[in-house]
Amino acid sequence: MKGLILAAGRGTRLRPLTHTRPKPVIRVAGRPIIHYALDNLKDAGVREIGIVVSPDTRTDVQAALGGVEGARVTYILQEQPQGLAHAVRVARGWLGDDPFVLYLGDNLFERGIAPFVQAFDRGGPAAVVALARVEDPRQFGVAEVAGGRILRLVEKPERPPSDLAVAGVYVFGPRIHRVIEDLEPSARGEYEITDAIQRLIDGGHEVQGLPIEGWWKDTGRAEDLLDANRLLLANVEPKNEGRVEESRLIGRVVIEAGAVVRRSTVMGPALIAAGSRVEDAFVGPFTAVGPGAEVRGSEVEYSIVADRAVIENVPTRLQECVIGVGARVTSREGLPRAHRLVLGDASRVEIG
Ligand code: TTP
Repeated sequence: MKGLILAAGRGTRLRPLTHTRPKPVIRVAGRPIIHYALDNLKDAGVREIGIVVSPDTRTDVQAALGGVEGARVTYILQEQPQGLAHAVRVARGWLGDDPFVLYLGDNLFERGIAPFVQAFDRGGPAAVVALARVEDPRQFGVAEVAGGRILRLVEKPERPPSDLAVAGVYVFGPRIHRVIEDLEPSARGEYEITDAIQRLIDGGHEVQGLPIEGWWKDTGRAEDLLDANRLLLANVEPKNEGRVEESRLIGRVVIEAGAVVRRSTVMGPALIAAGSRVEDAFVGPFTAVGPGAEVRGSEVEYSIVADRAVIENVPTRLQECVIGVGARVTSREGLPRAHRLVLGDASRVEIG
């Protein structure tokens, strides 16, 4: 069994964060999202892993995965993100006729993916598709299922046939390549994996739909990143390897080596990454402060503060914020009492 992680998307919904780095390398609960994919594949016994990258995402993804152990990683170039089925087609040579797990590099699964690999190995279907119950299925691919077998897949339906959304993990046998060869682009101009799977079904092949256990997160939007950060931090093992002076650590708090916390309160679940500094500050629940970041004279709660970002003397509490790599949020003394902003394209600021 091989693994194919897709990391060649444009990430338009997460701009401006994705103007400069691909979604799978954004840190959630202290680690690049793609690390969780790699761990889940390894835990499912998959050791040969292909990563589909674009010319834009290649360098960052390779840098984020430097020094990976326990898997053989191969990078596969997709020149344009023309759809999930297109990414599989691009990887055809590397995949050969081996069965493989297709894993969207920006998806997170609480309990891993082993059940899907096992279901494939047990039953010999043409494909196994991970399904998640969602409140509003209209924004997802939705499966109509009978007796564990998928009868029909519909993309973003007005009237969903069920509340079972297609989550970002699939297991395929080699038959999928034959249907992808003949696939036409969809109305939005992409080669859709749902269309390819529907063709398998229409050809009389068995496609199993297996509900996921635990939570699943597609980190498409900033809100999803924050929610994923919350869910992952809730399970961190507390530890203190940094320097903590005149401070209170409450609940599940991770202080990594080389971090400094002074005259501050850190209320867990929270993570203060290596080399960061928290001084005269409150870092509240569900917050991850990235490597080398600084929080001084400020309060931050339910937020992601990325690598080397600086938050200094901000008079109101920051909440539900995603502060990008090297970004600065500061205040200044004196008049006029005005907001001075330098924001990248598609930035969002809410001033309360
Ligand atoms: P999407 O979330 O569908 O697309 P995206 O990441 O480009 O984001 P947006 O919709 O905001 O523009 O992609 C899911 C994952 O698959 C993501 O990690 C990128 C990857 N992908 C590819 O590798 N190749 C592709 O052709 C596409 C469409 C996505």
